[in-house]
Amino acid sequence: MNALFSLQRIALSGPAEVGEFFDRAAALLAQGASPETIVWSVGDEAAATGNLFCGEPPQPMLAEAAPVAPPAAFMDLARRALLHSASDRHDLCYRLLSRLRAQPRLMSNAADPDVARLDLLARAVRRDMHKMTAFVRFRSVPTETGEEFIAWFEPDHHIVAATAPFFRKRFSSMRWSILTPRACVRWDGVRLALGPGADKRNAPTGDALEALWRTYFGAIFNPARLNLKAMTREMPKKYWRNMPEADLIAPLTRAAPARAAEMLAAAPTNARRAATYKPADSAAAGAASEADDLASLAASIKTCTACDLCRFATQAVPGEGPRDAPLMFVGEQPGDEEDIQGRPFVGPAGKVFAAALERLEIEREKVFVSNAVKHFKFEPRGKKRIHKKPGAREIAACNPWLHRELELVKPRLVVALGATAATALLGRATPLREVRNQTLEAPGGAPMRATVHPSYLLRLPDRDAKKAEWRLFLQDIDEARRLSGL
Ligand code: URA
Repeated sequence: MNALFSLQRIALSGPAEVGEFFDRAAALLAQGASPETIVWSVGDEAAATGNLFCGEPPQPMLAEAAPVAPPAAFMDLARRALLHSASDRHDLCYRLLSRLRAQPRLMSNAADPDVARLDLLARAVRRDMHKMTAFVRFRSVPTETGEEFIAWFEPDHHIVAATAPFFRKRFSSMRWSILTPRACVRWDGVRLALGPGADKRNAPTGDALEALWRTYFGAIFNPARLNLKAMTREMPKKYWRNMPEADLIAPLTRAAPARAAEMLAAAPTNARRAATYKPADSAAAGAASEADDLASLAASIKTCTACDLCRFATQAVPGEGPRDAPLMFVGEQPGDEEDIQGRPFVGPAGKVFAAALERLEIEREKVFVSNAVKHFKFEPRGKKRIHKKPGAREIAACNPWLHRELELVKPRLVVALGATAATALLGRATPLREVRNQTLEAPGGAPMRATVHPSYLLRLPDRDAKKAEWRLFLQDIDEARRLSGL
């Protein structure tokens, strides 16, 4: 080792102390300490590395430099990468911080080995956090002071504290704990408390809800849509051991070919569906089936003249969202604002919808949002255009577009927002109370749930009723999100 410099040991108080790392790194950079002279350690590891050091005060190897704020592109990745369990994460981040002073554009060089490694670590952490939000399964535990929910989870990285706010937001009215080997977190309804890791033997293994959840999982498992590779990619096997539904997967998979064959052979059961809402035999049906991607489908929708609504609306409003969206929402029809902007759910009802997604931490960009009817139906009143409910003929005329959106996106779950959407999806007049809280089947076989239209919440005059309905609406969407695996 170069005798000119002595090593400086920096011991962080915990493995996920990102803020502490940045504070220490800023001080070191201000001293001009070069990355090779720093040895980072965490908690107990510090003691084990004591003999590396000669005990002399740190020797600056770089010229003292004025503080420079690291670019956001670095900070975004580093905040996550520092939660990785890799032992080189602090060296890497400090080296990059140091290099960024001389090379401020370094982060745009994706081929640089340090930049590439930072990106790799950050991605792994993001994935681990996502898996934790998706696969934690709480079990109910009766206590002297009421019900508590406890989950056991085994993350790969130091993500418990960083992921806890997600659970606090989602389960704010429950008391819960998530136990993991590295750290535990508890929410008592008021504050989050972090603690050391736990032993799996302290975690409960079953509860009364579990049987219900397993029955549910069995019921929504669609053998005709089974894609084992995609399923294990999304839900890696290492998580299965802590998921009550996991031991159903093998028998359901084995039975899938026979069940899918049975489904194909079965005659359609709902005669009323065909009689009432047979898709219009119009240009729309032909053009819809020809569109083989969402962009060409949207272009065809824009030219639709299958019913009279096109004569008065500004434009047709196709659905929007990614082609592989696991979750699709179907509203009624564009409103005044949507008609002008050409995008679904951007007006007042859209704001309610967006608030629900935000509350549940669902990114709108990840879901597909559409309408049963693509043109705005309204009645002119003075300067205003007053929304008018679409009729059966308009719903039927638009049905081919909606069906094709479903065929292209193939969502894992569709949510009908309101009775018009439920009617369009089920092909029969459908009062919402008849279908809410049930899982039905949308065209193409995707499971479907139904909830109120967001504009219903806007119309409720009573504040308490509004609050109660809002809660139910959130529950419905949350359930849909869970079923879709998003
Ligand atoms: N209401 C709907 O049903 N859809 C929209 O896009 C906007 C309001």
